[in-house]
Amino acid sequence: MTTISPALDLACRSALGARTELIREVQNGLQSRPRSLKPWMLYDELGSRLFEQITALSEYYPTRTERSLLERRTDAIVASACADSQPLRVVELGAGTASKTCLLLAAAVRKRIEVIYMPLDVSADALEIACRGIESAFPEVLLEPVVVNYVDSPPKLEDFDGSTLALYLGSSIGNFMPQESRTILRNIGSQLRNGDALVLGTDLVKEESILIAAYDDNEGVTAAFNLNVLNRLNNELGADFDPTGFRHRARWNPVASRIEMHLECVRDQYVEIASAELELHFREGETIHTENSYKFTDNTLDALLSDSGLKIESTWKDERSWYAVTLSRRLDEDQCDRK
Ligand code: AVJ
Repeated sequence: MTTISPALDLACRSALGARTELIREVQNGLQSRPRSLKPWMLYDELGSRLFEQITALSEYYPTRTERSLLERRTDAIVASACADSQPLRVVELGAGTASKTCLLLAAAVRKRIEVIYMPLDVSADALEIACRGIESAFPEVLLEPVVVNYVDSPPKLEDFDGSTLALYLGSSIGNFMPQESRTILRNIGSQLRNGDALVLGTDLVKEESILIAAYDDNEGVTAAFNLNVLNRLNNELGADFDPTGFRHRARWNPVASRIEMHLECVRDQYVEIASAELELHFREGETIHTENSYKFTDNTLDALLSDSGLKIESTWKDERSWYAVTLSRRLDEDQCDRK
């Protein structure tokens, strides 16, 4: 028998469900007006690689700003998350390739804390990369990857003899509508017990030109990332999109306080999506809305957490106040026996 990694095993088991979900969401989104696709669709293997490239762009400040915030606070975070020498379970939502998580795992390992790392992500590809990296850097860390859409399937954590540190980094929460983001945080919050903590990374409102540049970079990496969703539909659903028939658009929506990514149709065209049994007509100038990226203020961040049953204990910002990392606990810590 060949041994396969836990991530790969789970990926195989969830592959069928993921495909059904992709088809359903494509049918819903592309037949509605305005047309839309879900941001998670951007992360196939190439999409995940393009996103990694985005994080290194000079215009894309969130990743490096969050990293430097975390770098300076890892010991404080680990200390406030776990009682002395107790095992620590790190549960990460939307783990992606977990490049920043390593900072926290390293701090825990340094303190000789027994660590279980449980990354949750929709992308099996990203989890595979994450697990391989962590396996070789921290062989002592126990890995329990889960391929899951944590929006539709709220995580249920098993009882654990130790503390739990939930991580939701990268401002991924910004991809969701206000109601949805509260549901996600409430769901993860309901899994926390006394002394457990949630560390959340959120991008903040700032000058529009800086925001736009971050989502429409000079090299066109973000454009490639956005357009790649069409390649994904070609590859996985037998669609016949011509990606040169669309162009990347990033716009700031000040009312909703979010950056929006769209794909704008540059010429009249018909597209067939075989596996979704769709035949679509796109008019010139018509758009497909592919992503929202909400930007917060102190007030909206406060409201986000308190509406979700959490209270902020610490907030860390960079000197320009471009990004915030917060550590929160359950509001009702006394009666939080996990259900
Ligand atoms: C990974 C969702 C946080 O919204 O900034 C980057 C994704 N989209 N460039 C973000 C993204 C375009 C990113 N998140």
